Amino acid sequence: MNIAIMASGGDCSGMNPATKRFVEYSIQNGITPYFIYEGLEGLIDGKIKKAAFTDVSGIIYRGGTIIRSSRSKKFYEKKYRQIAYENLKKHSINTVIVLGGDGSFRAFEIFSNEFGINFIGIPATIDNDIYGTEYCLGVDTALNIIRGAVDDIRDTASSFNRAFVIETMGRECGYLALITALTSGAEMCLIPEASYNLDSLKKKFLKQIDEGRRYFIAIVSEGLKISEEIKEWFENEIGFESRLTVLGHIQRGGNPTVFDRLTAFEFVTSALDLALKGEKNKIVVYRNSKFESIDSKIVTTNRYKIDEKLIELAKEMME
Ligand code: F6P
Repeated sequence: MNIAIMASGGDCSGMNPATKRFVEYSIQNGITPYFIYEGLEGLIDGKIKKAAFTDVSGIIYRGGTIIRSSRSKKFYEKKYRQIAYENLKKHSINTVIVLGGDGSFRAFEIFSNEFGINFIGIPATIDNDIYGTEYCLGVDTALNIIRGAVDDIRDTASSFNRAFVIETMGRECGYLALITALTSGAEMCLIPEASYNLDSLKKKFLKQIDEGRRYFIAIVSEGLKISEEIKEWFENEIGFESRLTVLGHIQRGGNPTVFDRLTAFEFVTSALDLALKGEKNKIVVYRNSKFESIDSKIVTTNRYKIDEKLIELAKEMME
């Protein structure tokens, strides 16, 4: 049995431990492991290679992904999917483990329907925005990188009378901003999934300044596209000199946390067990403290929603 692994879309920490487990658990189970380098683009370009345990030694602590990734527009054209199929056929690969987001799973559903290539998806994105799973690989590392950055910014913030607006990634999903705000002692948290009220925040903040507050930390999700506006708001409405820090791609780097190393192992073990059982087009999900699998269609046709209870916890920072 020949099985390949690939990363697709934004990389995240945890992909290397996942790749290591993939090779080692495959070999233990008599599977021949293959790497597809550079995601869907690499699949079209035939960048496929048999993997050995020597390829994955010394990678467990490294962020990013040694098999690299890509975002591909070409794969949405059938003629390129045909080439991708021929490339897999050359190596007798009929199952692919896909580390990625729901866009990648959707692309593989189309591919699978056309050419019968089976895939097992592992949710891997710092955005934590995939339906059906409470956790996506890479989120814990990203949150810890953000925590470190916010703690560092607090050092300088607390030395001045200033407001610091910190923008986190996540696309349309405010999970990173929400968890960061809850765990970093922020005064403000703005995310796409929740309404906010700047007038009532202003009243609260002005009162706090009277009572002795000397700096503010505001966490704003990139999906809202208002970080610059909030910085101006602190200057004009609150009367505090302010600075904006867009954390950007540092959030995708960093060596994987213990949690991400462990979940990588669990995700991949479940994925290969499913492949060995002949299961088709499944996504491994983590919920209620367990790794399970659900049909890919369920994941790709539903929209992820942040747990309302978490939003409720942060209400004080929104209005
Ligand atoms: O999906 C992961 C992510 O890091 C998002 O949080 C962010 O908006 C986007 O990718 C950045 O994309 P790129 O790496 O293409 O600039």
